Amino acid sequence: MDITYYGHSCYLIQVNNIRILFDPFISGNPLASGIKIEDINPDYILISHGHNDHTGDVLEIAEKSQALIICSWEISEWLQSKGLKNIRPVNHGGHLEFDFGKLKVVNAVHSSSMPDGTYGGNALGFIVHTSEYTFYYAGDTALTLDMKLIPHWYQLDFAFLPIGNNFTMDIDDAVLASEFIHCKNIIGMHYDTFGWIQIDHTVAKQKFKAAEKELILMSIGETLKWNQ
Ligand code: NI
Ligand code: MN
Repeated sequence: MDITYYGHSCYLIQVNNIRILFDPFISGNPLASGIKIEDINPDYILISHGHNDHTGDVLEIAEKSQALIICSWEISEWLQSKGLKNIRPVNHGGHLEFDFGKLKVVNAVHSSSMPDGTYGGNALGFIVHTSEYTFYYAGDTALTLDMKLIPHWYQLDFAFLPIGNNFTMDIDDAVLASEFIHCKNIIGMHYDTFGWIQIDHTVAKQKFKAAEKELILMSIGETLKWNQ
């Protein structure tokens, strides 16, 4: 499984030659100026919620790639109003089968509106269970007790957790979240992009290490081959 980081909360997972893109926000992110969105050609685009820092490039990438977009009902209506058709609306509790594996849609404690103010429905998290590895993409969320349900459904190999504070969990809550979900390997997201969410990388990694976990902070543009 290959994991590529495009900055903020945008990751591309490649599994069995299927490419799954999460929360495309690249052209509006000065830290990701080295990434060309025309080079990203996903088969699926998963959207956690409507905010611009998660949907900024979805229209352009979806139109070019014809990827299937998986998102809330309300976001699907907004995308349809922009002319997109290849959409699968979902909501909390959904447990679905795709060619990459199974997808479970879980709670995220956050708000959701589109860049133009249209209501975006519930904020979502995703668990992706493939023949290679199983991971959790938390989206933007506070720490929530609902995370304790996740180990009852799936044993996670790794998880993407927001760590930047202010709009989401901070590092200390992300360490607790990693305990709630019984997951040792955490890939950080939603940090450093703008001033309110800048973090000290060394302190963040130390806090996870003290809890016998590992915090992975990828460089923008980096691809990690997951083989643990
Ligand atoms: Ni948000
Ligand atoms: Mn956000």
